Amino acid sequence: MDQNQSNLAVRKLLAKYSHTDPDDWFLTFRARFGMATCFQAIYDIYGSGEVITQPYTCITAINPILVSNLKPVYADINPETLSINQPEKVYSSKTVAIVLQHTLGIIGDKSQKIANFAKKHRLILVEDSAHCLARMAKDDSGNTLADISVHSFGVEKVLQYTKFGGAIYVNPSLKKKNAKLYEEITSHLLNLPHPPLSLDLRSRTYRFQNGILHRLPNSMMHDARSLAYKAHIFEPAVAPYEQNAEQTQPFSSTKFINNTILKHLPTLPAIYKRRLKNTRLYNKKLANNYDYKPLANVEEPLLAYPILFEDAASATKVYDVLTSSGFFIRRWYSPLLYPGPNSNRRYNYSPKMAPIAEEIHTRVLCLPTDLTPDKMDRILAILRPTEKPVEKILKKQAK
Ligand SMILES: Cc1ncc(COP(=O)(O)O)c(C=O)c1O
Repeated sequence: MDQNQSNLAVRKLLAKYSHTDPDDWFLTFRARFGMATCFQAIYDIYGSGEVITQPYTCITAINPILVSNLKPVYADINPETLSINQPEKVYSSKTVAIVLQHTLGIIGDKSQKIANFAKKHRLILVEDSAHCLARMAKDDSGNTLADISVHSFGVEKVLQYTKFGGAIYVNPSLKKKNAKLYEEITSHLLNLPHPPLSLDLRSRTYRFQNGILHRLPNSMMHDARSLAYKAHIFEPAVAPYEQNAEQTQPFSSTKFINNTILKHLPTLPAIYKRRLKNTRLYNKKLANNYDYKPLANVEEPLLAYPILFEDAASATKVYDVLTSSGFFIRRWYSPLLYPGPNSNRRYNYSPKMAPIAEEIHTRVLCLPTDLTPDKMDRILAILRPTEKPVEKILKKQAK
């Protein structure tokens, strides 16, 4: 399919899965480019101002605020949702927008409160659904709460094989709320330039190159990756300059990215079915143990399932056991503003701003939810506390 046909086909699928209109979706080369386009439009209309967000996130979700000349201010997180809490503590007369991130795809019931807060203070509500492709927070009547919703096809997101691509949903109700902003955002998203040929090429070869890099011994992989990046032949998920509050200009999606998405997006219902099943299984099997605490007790198809350990050393021990058993465990988001800024100052961040996020980030492990049933059995056998003999005896007697 050509660029226009494939763009429409992707938007139609996103609209189908999210019960929205294809015309309200806009495709970008990466989600961070869509975010930057929206924040730039907010800056153009409102001038310089503050955006409430959280440090328990990827640096690529903060750079779009900074490159748009807006200032990120950080609210701490609720440890049960790993998401923004009590934004009123950092609200000021300069606040123009608030980011509601569904960390690991945990939407839960946190969103209406944040939407009410945004409405009360006339803030633009930007939903970060990078971890829950085509899923958005809705009100009781099924209306999308956010003004702008950000979705990603990037590395380590819901679809495993796409690697590039972002999608921005612009709520048509923004037209009534702020027609000028709506026009500014949508016209810029529609007119994003195509990426240069070199970047297009790097996106086409990413999977092949990454496959080769992963076959190298760990000690060599890092150097080879860095050499390939320096030779401008490899496009990493987060480039070194991005840890410096920098980002390239935003680009549109491409024919290659759209067609790759089209190959994999139809599997989304099946992927979510598996992730939901495994989330439920973790909820059931990992509850009530002394070694760690499952964090999010939700029935949703999570991108990964977070568990919290007493201390960082215990988390690291279990991390080592699980990874050496072949499981891919994420330590999101550790360090905060992952993979860590070169200077907190550039990000207007100080650890005092988010004591909960600072305190828990090294103690969280994110378990995979895309495992086959036999792999789930294996990981649960490692994680589940063995039954105590007394419990076994009592269970037998009860039968
Ligand atoms: C929470 C969050 N938001 C936004 C992004 C940006 O997504 P993309 O990689 O498509 O630019 C990421 C990914 O790194 C993320 O983890």
